[in-house]
Amino acid sequence: MKPTLSPAPTVRSYLDEGAGSSLANDVLDGLTRPFKELPPKHFYDAVGADLFDRICEQPEYYPTRAEREILQLRSGDIARITGAAELVELGSGTAAKTRVLLDALRDAGTLRRYVPFDVTEGMVRDVAAALLDEYPGLEVEGIVGDFERHLQHVPPSVPGRPRIVAFLGGTIGNFIPGSRREFLASLGELLSDGDHLLLGTDLVKDPAVLEAAYDDAAGVTAAFNRNVLHVLNRELDADFEPDAFDHFAFFDREHEWIEMRLRAQRRMVVPIRGLGMEVAFEAREEVRTEISAKFTPERLEADLAASGLELVEILTDPQQRFALSLSRRA
Ligand code: AVJ
Repeated sequence: MKPTLSPAPTVRSYLDEGAGSSLANDVLDGLTRPFKELPPKHFYDAVGADLFDRICEQPEYYPTRAEREILQLRSGDIARITGAAELVELGSGTAAKTRVLLDALRDAGTLRRYVPFDVTEGMVRDVAAALLDEYPGLEVEGIVGDFERHLQHVPPSVPGRPRIVAFLGGTIGNFIPGSRREFLASLGELLSDGDHLLLGTDLVKDPAVLEAAYDDAAGVTAAFNRNVLHVLNRELDADFEPDAFDHFAFFDREHEWIEMRLRAQRRMVVPIRGLGMEVAFEAREEVRTEISAKFTPERLEADLAASGLELVEILTDPQQRFALSLSRRA
């Protein structure tokens, strides 16, 4: 029997740092606005994370498959361009697609360390343990945190150890344009000379294709959208009736983003005891629950440039539905 020496993974949590969960403040702000809004980060409790995984399997939801296809076709090129010893992955989840990239870095002989960063502690622990097992000799340093608040806890880049900071899946699309550039700039701060940002972005395309991806026939996205109301009921002792809200999604051609909304079927007054308030909805009143921006290569390059980043390479799938870009500090 071959002795294996897997050191225990280091996992640090920073979630209790700062103003605790941002849910209460987000809901208070979002539901007292003239146009009601809830930030998409609160979709992802255990049920929501599960629904999201099921969305990724729906025939209409192409981004996950398109991004995986790019990784499968081009991970060798990414390894060659970056020579990376280290992969920092923001929103690592189950790291399903990541393994394709880790394999390429391992095969290139450069891989040393993987740093998964996710808001769900269990996911970080499971992924850290699994990868230690699957990649003998790999150092794994997991971070449990909110990438909007705890990026400063990502360990500093080590000189002579080129790093990839990966933000996959198209989640950058959840930011409105000004915050998007601020966030990209904060990702740039994780890069030193020789390091690269690997960013996943969904591309602008036929609105019918985009809208179907956010309104699958099986109703999984609709359930995912309503799930945020279940989260509010549980976490803030609220009384939403999720089934009294209709899911809908549309492509805003001017902003080039998908919007998901929930529309109240009738007038309602909803207690949110955890906040000591009631929120009134008119019949047909809408709550915006997510924007998901779609990019053109030109706009991607402009956003990166405005954030102090220089585009190195854009990789797309053969159908040009999705893009993975490599960029570095300008
Ligand atoms: C995880 C933010 C990339 O915007 O496509 C999927 C979330 N929402 N279906 C996306 C989502 C509805 C997804 N991201």
